[in-house]
Amino acid sequence: IGPDVIDIRKLYGQTGKFTYDPGFLSTASCNSTITYIDGDKGELLYRGYPIEQLAVNCDFLDTCYLLLYGDLPNEGQRKDFHGRVTNHTMVNEQMQFFLRGFRRDAHPMAVLTGLVGALSAFYHDSTDINNAQHREIAAIRLIAKMPTLVSMAYKYSVGQPFMYPRNELSYAGNFMRMMFGTPCEDYKVNPVIERALDRIFILHADHEQNASTSTVRLCGSSGTNPFAAIAAGVACLWGPAHGGANEACLNMLEDIQKMGGVAKVGEFMNQVKDKNSGVRLMGFGHRVYKNYDPRAKLMQETCKEVLLELGLENDPLFKLAMALEKIALEDDYFVARKLYPNVDFYSGIVQRAIGIPVQLFTAIFALARTVGWIAQLNEMIADPEYKIGRPRQLFVGSPRRDVKPLAERG
Ligand code: ACO
Repeated sequence: IGPDVIDIRKLYGQTGKFTYDPGFLSTASCNSTITYIDGDKGELLYRGYPIEQLAVNCDFLDTCYLLLYGDLPNEGQRKDFHGRVTNHTMVNEQMQFFLRGFRRDAHPMAVLTGLVGALSAFYHDSTDINNAQHREIAAIRLIAKMPTLVSMAYKYSVGQPFMYPRNELSYAGNFMRMMFGTPCEDYKVNPVIERALDRIFILHADHEQNASTSTVRLCGSSGTNPFAAIAAGVACLWGPAHGGANEACLNMLEDIQKMGGVAKVGEFMNQVKDKNSGVRLMGFGHRVYKNYDPRAKLMQETCKEVLLELGLENDPLFKLAMALEKIALEDDYFVARKLYPNVDFYSGIVQRAIGIPVQLFTAIFALARTVGWIAQLNEMIADPEYKIGRPRQLFVGSPRRDVKPLAERG
């Protein structure tokens, strides 16, 4: 704090102490029992379970149950939870009319922000955030309906008919059919791709107090309804420094490919290291991880599996990403700043191979993160000590002054 700032504070008679922490680099906003990250070790635990074990032994709905209720389900709980989610996959037919009001070329995240917010207008029976039953049914509805909403946004953008959910399919399989199936064919779910997509959902399910989760908590702290709070999370996730990085990363890889591919990696890296260029290596670096993001490792494996399954082992973007990673991990600029691949570095390549358009990547992230947002929101509301979030500021503007008549203003 500079002396001027202190003078201004005195001028206004501001009293009491508070910390000045732009970007909340070292401020904990809550107690939480949901997700633990050790950024130096590169460790991620959901409710104590390592992400590597969850990715191999559980499916996304098991992970949802874990995040919401604190432990993995037993057989009966699993069947019951899967059944409850399945019961809620349909959205009200009126949602179609709302969706049809958008331009077909609208960004899917703009559409999704609107659709999720609009859910509160359809579920008047579950919008009281202070009621535990309302919170639970809203959570189930949101988890169940997100794949339907995302696939509707996609179908609308390409001018194809909406596909209704098929509830005998898995969560990921149902989403694939709603995305890629048409009413005139019997869509067959490829189990390797289904598993890969399910893993993408698991890896994105929660990540403690990131920007969008903090947004959901802050928004929900006013007592607003859960659908509105999650819509705020969707809006925050959209930014390229957060969930939008997977889209930005794939666009970056495609640009380098157009410039000449692997042969141009060195030139591109020089641009990244030139602070005046404003170019960043997208999919690299993280506020908390100062080591390899464990999700990036799993995503790289998934990427290999998917490319092999689809006969795309020689995918030029994958080769390019591997070349960039190799150079970065040995480069002093990246080593000194502890910049490693994050989850977004490989997720775009997997999604593109599956057939998901680049513009939809962040919407898939939002679909998966919904459970984390709602688990965090519910944890906050259930805490008897919770208060409306209200950050302070250091005022550095003009001291008190009087309004001059128009003719006397300079
Ligand atoms: N490429 C080049 N340089 C970078 C990168 C990058 N991707 N990331 C950070 N740096 C540099 C910064 O220029 C800065 O250098 P300096 O100390 O010389 O000024 C230093 O590393 C620290 O960077 P900050 O921006 O201060 O770190 P912060 O914690 O605020 O940012 C962030 C983290 C936003 C993720 C950043 O690393 C970034 O922009 N990465 C690219 C975007 C991205 O991949 N985002 C996805 C994050 S994961 C997720 O949301 C799911």
